[in-house]
Amino acid sequence: MNKGLILVTGGTGYIGSHTVVELQQAGYEVVIVDNLSNSNVDVLDGIERISGIRPHFVEADCTDMTAMKKLFDTYKGIAGIINFAASKAVGESIERPVLYYRNNLNTLMNLLDLMAEYDVKGIVFSSSCTVYGEPDENPVTESAPIKKATSPYGNTKQICEEIIHDVIHSGAPYKSVILRYFNPVGAHPSAEIGELPNGVPQNLIPYLTQTAIGIRKELSVFGDDYDTPDGSCIRDFINVVDLAKAHVIAVERMLQNKSEANVETFNLGTGVGLSVKELIAAFERATGVKVPHKIVGRRAGDIEKVWAEPAYANNVLGWKAESTIEDTMRSAWAWQCRLRERGVM
Ligand code: NAD
Ligand code: WQD
Repeated sequence: MNKGLILVTGGTGYIGSHTVVELQQAGYEVVIVDNLSNSNVDVLDGIERISGIRPHFVEADCTDMTAMKKLFDTYKGIAGIINFAASKAVGESIERPVLYYRNNLNTLMNLLDLMAEYDVKGIVFSSSCTVYGEPDENPVTESAPIKKATSPYGNTKQICEEIIHDVIHSGAPYKSVILRYFNPVGAHPSAEIGELPNGVPQNLIPYLTQTAIGIRKELSVFGDDYDTPDGSCIRDFINVVDLAKAHVIAVERMLQNKSEANVETFNLGTGVGLSVKELIAAFERATGVKVPHKIVGRRAGDIEKVWAEPAYANNVLGWKAESTIEDTMRSAWAWQCRLRERGVM
C-alpha cells in the first residue's frame, strides 16, 4: 500500500521523527529533508528499527532554494508537506533574532513557492501554544486572542501563520492545516527515538530525566508562588506519539479534500493542565525513580498557566490524546536509559 509521497522537513528532529514513523505505519512513503542543525542522522536507524522502512533522506537546508528544487526534481510527485524544520530555542531567539526570522520564515516561504510549482496539495505547519501568550482564560480555544509575542521565536510562529493565511487567501492551489502544539513530551514506546537536546536542556522533561539518571545534580522548579493550586506553573503535556498521529490525520484531510476551508487551525493538547510539581510526582510514581529538586525563583518570561481546549480537534479531526501521563513519563525515562546504554549521555 502506498498512499502517496510526503515531504517531512525537520524529519530527523524530535516531533518529526515520531511523525515519520506514524506516516509509514499508515502507508505513506516519506522523504525527509533536514540540515541536521539540531538532530543526528542516526535517527534514521531508529525510525527503520521501528517501522522496518528506511525513509528517503536528503541533507539540505530548506532555505536553500537550489537544493530544494533539486529535491523536488528527484522525488517526483510529492503530494503533501509537513513543515517541522525551524529553530526553536526561545532564549537563543532573543540573542540571535535574525537567525530565527531568516530560518523559520524563509523555510516556509520557499516551501509555499515550491508547492505551487510542483503541484503539492497541502502543507501542515507546526505552530505553538506560544501564540496565545498568557491566556485570559483556560482551557484555550483556537479563537482565543493572539497575544504580542514575547520572543522572536514566538513571533516567527505568528508571522508564519499569517503568511499561510495570506497565501491561501490569494488563491494558492493547495490547502493548509496549522497545528498549535502545547507541550510535547515523552518518546516512542520502543525507546528507539526520542528527544535529544544539545547541551544543558532548557525544557522541563529532558532536564528532569537527566537529573533522574544523575547527569544533573538537581532540577530547579522555577517558582512556587504563582496563582495556581500548588504555586508552580501549569502546562498541557501532550504525548509525542499522540501528537504525531494528529499529523497523519491532518495530511489525510488535505489530500482527500475533506474540509471546506482551505486553511484550518487546531489546538493539539490533552485538555488537562498539570503543574510542574504534579508532573514531577507523576514521573516518580510511574518510574519509581526519585527526582532531586528544589524550588528557585521564577524564570523570566514564563507563562503562569496554559492548557488546551482540544474539542475542535477531537470533533473535527476525530483525534484525541490517549496516553496517560504515567505512560508518557515511563517512555521519557526508557529513552533516557537507552541513551545511557548507547553511551550517548
Ligand atoms: P527539533 O529541533 O527536534 O526538530 C527540528 C528539525 O529541523 C531539526 O532536526 C533541525 O535539524 C531541522 N532544521 C532546522 N532548520 C532547518 C532548515 N533550515 N532546513 C532543514 N532542516 C532544518 O524540534 P521539534 O521539537 O521536533 O519541533 C518541530 C517543530 O515543532 C518546530 O517547528 C517547532 O518550532 C515546533 N514546536 C515544537 C514544540 C516543542 O516543544 N518541541 C512546541 C511547539 C511547536
Ligand atoms: C515548562 C514548565 C517552566 C525547566 C516552551 C516554549 C514554548 C513551546 C514549548 C515551542 C515551565 C518549568 C522548566 C526547568 C522548571 N515550544 N521548568 N525547571 O516554557 O512551557 O514552553 O516549550 O513552541 O514556546 O516556550 O516549556 O519545558 O521550558 O517549561 O521548573 O528546568 O517547567 O518554568 O513552567 P514552556 P518548558
